Amino acid sequence: MMYRLGLPLLFLAFCGLVGCSSAKPGSAGQPPAATSTAGKAEPTYRHVVAADHELASLAGLEMLRKGGNAVDAAVATSFALSVVRPYSCGIGGGGFMLVRLVHHPKLHDLPRTIAIDYREVAPGWARSDFFETDPVCSKDPDASTRGAHAVAIPGTVAGLLYALERYGTLPRSTVLEPAIRYAEQGFAVDADYASTAERAWKNTKDHPGYASRFAEFSRIYLKDGTIRRGDTLRLAGQAAALRLISRDGADAFYKGAIASDIFAALTAGGVKLPAADLGDYKPRELSPLECTFRGKRVLTFPPPSSGGIVLVQTLGMIDARRTEFDGFEYASSPALHFLAEALKQSFADRSHYLADPAFVDVPTLELTSGANVRELAARIDMSRSQPPDACGSHIAAPQNKGTIPPDAGTSHLCAVDSWGNAVACTETINLSFGSYVCVPNYGFLLNDQMDDFTTRPDKPNAFGLRQDVRNLPAPGKQPLSSMSPTIVLAADRKDSPVELVVGASGGPWIITGTLQVLLNSEVYGIPASQAVAQPRIHHQWMPDVLDIQTELADSPEPGSKRTVNEALRALGHKTKVGKSECVVQAIRRSPTKPDKFEAGSDPRKGGKPAGE
Ligand code: GLY
Repeated sequence: MMYRLGLPLLFLAFCGLVGCSSAKPGSAGQPPAATSTAGKAEPTYRHVVAADHELASLAGLEMLRKGGNAVDAAVATSFALSVVRPYSCGIGGGGFMLVRLVHHPKLHDLPRTIAIDYREVAPGWARSDFFETDPVCSKDPDASTRGAHAVAIPGTVAGLLYALERYGTLPRSTVLEPAIRYAEQGFAVDADYASTAERAWKNTKDHPGYASRFAEFSRIYLKDGTIRRGDTLRLAGQAAALRLISRDGADAFYKGAIASDIFAALTAGGVKLPAADLGDYKPRELSPLECTFRGKRVLTFPPPSSGGIVLVQTLGMIDARRTEFDGFEYASSPALHFLAEALKQSFADRSHYLADPAFVDVPTLELTSGANVRELAARIDMSRSQPPDACGSHIAAPQNKGTIPPDAGTSHLCAVDSWGNAVACTETINLSFGSYVCVPNYGFLLNDQMDDFTTRPDKPNAFGLRQDVRNLPAPGKQPLSSMSPTIVLAADRKDSPVELVVGASGGPWIITGTLQVLLNSEVYGIPASQAVAQPRIHHQWMPDVLDIQTELADSPEPGSKRTVNEALRALGHKTKVGKSECVVQAIRRSPTKPDKFEAGSDPRKGGKPAGE
């Protein structure tokens, strides 16, 4: 029983934080800090990759063994994920890569942190009111999630090769080789793939017309409803695309043979794309967002990620009321109530203020300033849950009563090398299997990232997120994202070594999952493999629902006959008990062997780290 359902350990860990006598992490009554989820000593590595599929982690390890650095490993892992997690991310999507570079044979102004933004951009047809006024799309509530109008210009190939050329060390052909091999030789369909494919097959049956519109998708990825765990899936078309990218670089994708077939796929779906829309795509290099938390420097992703700002604000609120917060027993209803109320404040600001800063004014400094964060923290009432109107600077809109469907889109990977370089990289094609649009001859899937825009201002998106008119579509604009790749340095100094690399998949759950694993690691000292496995909560302001993972909800509230769920409901939370829709990967410096790292791939998706 993992941490005896989390609470006893978390209670003890929390007491350790506030100085109770028997409660230091690793003391009696608590699993030793060096114990993994499997009950064995937590393995440590001098270099390691943690992805949500073991074959992808192994692709990265191959690069480290060849003398490559963390960027080489991350790029190889990402291309491999395109193949083995085709429903989560891929060359038809986009992503954010946060690189902490401390050593490179050709670069000297180090250490440096680089935020590479290769999020998709809206095509030229994407007027702000398109989804409300277009005669066809306005009548199709799924127009921004499935089909050619859901597709934004992909950034992954440009972004990965940008990272490799500037910050990697190995040749393009070397880093692409494992992905090509997996696509050609095939890989075993695992439980996560099989269940995601089953949901997608049901979705195609539930929507009249999908069977013919998305026949290629169904044939390649679902085997027309017959794909099962243990089957071998070969992706010959994707292997051909990867070979062209290996030979000709990003031009193969954006201008060459692959581009022609992307145009063909979109034209068949009713979208005419000018060649420049694809050919002009460029990744952006951004300054990371930074804050200090308990003496450590936290580096995270700036807008168009919303995750970085929400993370910085929420950590700030915890610090602003540190004495009080540290007095709560961990994972007790007061601790979870505080976390939920803080998240409601910062997610309300997400809805109101955040969008692509290249197009609208995003007040990042004001939102993350100490004064603003202290004011938000002061609003948290420990005696009751606040209504949505009382949180952040919200938009006035009816509350969404809908439920958020299970989703396996998005993938996060972490990599560290033995020089101490580190990469946190989150990538997505948005919802599971993206737009369902397959590129002819190459078979890879195109994203449905248009749904991350505010496509219909009076309605939430597929993740139940309400978003402001600042996030309306516009040609060349990037949709707001929750992807939150994050790196924590061991001290609040620019030259401190990396202590934690973390990030997640799961739509808005990305942010809350990343935050809770960061707290598990940095506050409670929980080893990486267990930090990612712990039960979690989620609140995103609207819908006004507190999601609690079943194990946590059913845990006894310390010192009470009630469960945690009952105690939270008594505070006014509308709780929903179930699974966590979030998958977190993390790498953490070993507290006992400072030149080694622990690694955790979230058991929820069946991933496994690979290192040595
Ligand atoms: N498509 C999920 C996200 O970027 O937040």
